[in-house]
Amino acid sequence: MKIIIINGPNLNLLGIRETSIYGSQSFTDYFKKLTAEFPQAGLEYYQSNIEGEIINKLHETGFSYDGIVLNAGAYTHTSIAISDAIAGIKTPVYEVHLSNVYSREDYRHKSILAKNCKGVISGFGMDSYRLAVYQFLSTLK
Ligand code: DQA
Repeated sequence: MKIIIINGPNLNLLGIRETSIYGSQSFTDYFKKLTAEFPQAGLEYYQSNIEGEIINKLHETGFSYDGIVLNAGAYTHTSIAISDAIAGIKTPVYEVHLSNVYSREDYRHKSILAKNCKGVISGFGMDSYRLAVYQFLSTLK
């Protein structure tokens, strides 16, 4: 099995950035725990701050991987191009967010990506990723 987690802009700063919202753990630390918990998931991790690079990674993995867990950060609310990329690939995508985007500013209430995703998980901190991986593992077998 192959599942990739793709993180978008500013998520390289997890653990440092706005810790009252996103917590104080770095993603690399969390990812180590996740791979230890789910060795059977064949987990990989990719992060980019650049819209086109996220699209390239969706194309690269979206025809051969079993699942994609995508936190597109603020591009969630703005990127028609990432939404089109999700629509164009075969691998199912779960949209995830650490924060509950519906309890925040109005401009975070709309996801341009969600329509093309298989599901959305928002508001469980780092465990949003864990829930998405768990869901892939339960449904993909
Ligand atoms: C986020 C929510 C987005 O609105 C924000 O722009 C982020 C992080 C989250 O994980 O809660 O960068 O995707």
